[in-house]
Amino acid sequence: MRDKSCVDCHMPVAVPPHAPQAAGAAGGPGRPRHRHTFLGSHDAAFVASALRIEITPTGADSVANVGVGHALPLATVKTLIITMSALNDSGNTLDSRRIEIGHKDPISPGDAWTGQAPVPDGTAELRVAITYPFADFQPASQHMTIATRSQKIRLARK
Ligand code: HEC
Repeated sequence: MRDKSCVDCHMPVAVPPHAPQAAGAAGGPGRPRHRHTFLGSHDAAFVASALRIEITPTGADSVANVGVGHALPLATVKTLIITMSALNDSGNTLDSRRIEIGHKDPISPGDAWTGQAPVPDGTAELRVAITYPFADFQPASQHMTIATRSQKIRLARK
């Protein structure tokens, strides 16, 4: 990860028809051309591709920063929201827990946040959903879920 530059992640290499730089071009011949889009947290798929969500059958959940080259979140106005839910057989939410990760206590590259989901009696499925509002002042009704992962579980009867 450390060997990647800002440009590698944020300005992906252009796919053909752009040819590599010609001989004599600035930066030298054969250098790949990068797109000038700056991929960022406005692009849900870009952020989702940088996170790895894991759920264990006992509800130990983790969200790892596997592809953000720096702290997540980076900006002071941003908060990553993790919602862990327990669902019953019919898909109804029995209980949920919401965690906010701000820039003061971010997830460093290669690190993971871990937490315990509620697992009440009757839980058939555990779900982790992540929303990443563009800023703290964005109304909750406009928050978009950027990644979810769920897992069916079968609890041993006591
Ligand atoms: C390994 C890939 C990677 C590298 C290297 C990387 N970034 Fe990022 N960056 C990301 C991802 C993924 C996001 C989206 C998640 C987020 O907002 O934190 C992001 C988000 C950002 C944002 C938006 C933050 C926001 O809150 O909207 C900025 C600005 C940024 N990066 C700047 C940089 C700069 C400058 C460098 C070089 C010093 C850099 N990045 C290196 C992957 C990378």
